[in-house]
Amino acid sequence: MIYLDNGATSWPKPESVVEAVEKALRAPASPGRSGHKAAHAASRSVHRARKGIAKIFGVKDPERVAFTPNVTWAVNAALWGLGLKEGDHVLSGALEHNSTARPLRRLERGRGAAWERVDPGPDGILDPEEFRRRLRPETRLVVINHASNVTGALAPAREIKEAAGEVPILVDTAQTAGSVPLDDMGQWADFICFTGHKGLLGPTGTGGLCVKEGARFSPLAVGGSGSRSESLEHPDFLPDALEAGTHNTHGLAGLAAAAEFLLETGIDRIREHELALAELFMAGALQASGLRILGPQPGDRRRVATVSVTLEGYSSSDLARILEEGYGIMTRAGLHCAPLTHQACGSFPGGSVRFSFGYFNTFQEAEAAAGALREIAAKPRAAGLS
Ligand code: ALA
Repeated sequence: MIYLDNGATSWPKPESVVEAVEKALRAPASPGRSGHKAAHAASRSVHRARKGIAKIFGVKDPERVAFTPNVTWAVNAALWGLGLKEGDHVLSGALEHNSTARPLRRLERGRGAAWERVDPGPDGILDPEEFRRRLRPETRLVVINHASNVTGALAPAREIKEAAGEVPILVDTAQTAGSVPLDDMGQWADFICFTGHKGLLGPTGTGGLCVKEGARFSPLAVGGSGSRSESLEHPDFLPDALEAGTHNTHGLAGLAAAAEFLLETGIDRIREHELALAELFMAGALQASGLRILGPQPGDRRRVATVSVTLEGYSSSDLARILEEGYGIMTRAGLHCAPLTHQACGSFPGGSVRFSFGYFNTFQEAEAAAGALREIAAKPRAAGLS
């Protein structure tokens, strides 16, 4: 079996992550709630996760990292917390995942906030100048998918923030955190939304947002926080303001171990390995006749190791099925919860087959995937298909 679906969730997880989750599951504890030793140990474990994530994003104060169940929740918390309303304008890229697109559509429909999207150029990359041109006096937020989960295209997010000036920026790092060095992002991004189970190599059910000093926010959900228990008002300070209810202590123990693994390994090293895998795969895959790579082409470093292809004569679901049944290669086919991206790339509604590489993939696996595509493309169309 060859696992090339790291864009959906990374696999395998480092052994230290598995061990940390198991250890946490064996401990009786609720962080920040009780005063006994086990509860203190759980609080320290959650703080370790906060510290690790803060370091990865270059956020000075770990208390500005708030945990949520996933990146979708984090995006919703940031967007709804801003109180956007009729007359406000939000600019985003056109390569958004539904995790941002659907909340933005809801804001548009429900609250009348205008949402405008900026298309990528022919190279699949967003142009910061286009964002500068589209800014309006009433623009309240810029939303950027840092890397497309379909094409792997990296957005020049920092340059877009420079173009946006005082307008806050929300960056969805679901496809970059842990795979691309981001240790300066905390200095300029107002909201960094992340998920723990992809490039960060942690468990599912972990994610969150880093809120820059001075950024506006208010709780999406309120409830128990383990702090200010005398009051019926939810605390307004971070991280408690955005963390109602008991933490995912078990998952966050794994995320703490994952962050430590990443920092020890070096995210720059991870990036180089993943890019090399993607390059090798793309060079080999392009030899398959009728194959098209969506977004950035070989040699363009403005990408992550997520590569989407279409193959003439094959639907994306048939191609993924043949790859799995005939070659043991696991990919993701279809629209990848990102219909806007496929529209922008001309691959809507058929979608594509996505090969997403991770740190634990090998060059042999990248070559095998490219070889499988060449072999499938060389077969008469009728031979391989239902
Ligand atoms: N957003 C995840 C993906 O792209 C689930 O597959």
